[in-house]
Amino acid sequence: MSEQAKPEQILILEFTLKSLDFMRAGEASSEFKQRLKKLGFKPELVRRAAIAAYEAEMNVIIHARKGVMRFEIAPARLLIVVEDEGPGISDIEQAMQEGFTTASAAIRELGFGAGMGLPNIKRCADAMDIQSIPGQGTRLQIIINNE
Ligand SMILES: Nc1ncnc2c1ncn2[C@@H]1O[C@H](COP(=O)(O)OP(=O)(O)O)[C@@H](O)[C@H]1O
Ligand SMILES: [Mg+2]
Repeated sequence: MSEQAKPEQILILEFTLKSLDFMRAGEASSEFKQRLKKLGFKPELVRRAAIAAYEAEMNVIIHARKGVMRFEIAPARLLIVVEDEGPGISDIEQAMQEGFTTASAAIRELGFGAGMGLPNIKRCADAMDIQSIPGQGTRLQIIINNE
């Protein structure tokens, strides 16, 4: 993890993610969650942000090769940007549907691949944007406003 404080009270946390690294899976989002709690964000906002971050993190670990996850924590809004190198998503509309998954049987046996990650991110976020180039990778941006 690297960390950097910018002016106007923005805290930036950055993590690298690796495919199938189940030892460290969830670390980035759990560190993010702890920070938000310590900074005094409302429990309901922390809960939404932590769910969105966890699902985004796990998608890189399960579906991509490697990635970088960046959190920008500002008093008025949380920004999560996840960029990965991997297979990308050819049909984003389909990927957004509840229950749709391309996870292997082995991954599903580990308890992942319910196909609810992206729909859950959408529910938790105020704004969500996915850009993907099949065969190259995916960029997911999530905004959660603190109103
Ligand atoms: N970062 C990613 N890289 C490649 N494919 C992805 C990524 N994130 C999601 N997907 C695709 O979208 C599908 C749905 O994702 P999600 O709703 O999180 O369900 P799940 O992860 O349980 O499969 C995945 O099965 C996968 O095909
Ligand atoms: Mg998922």
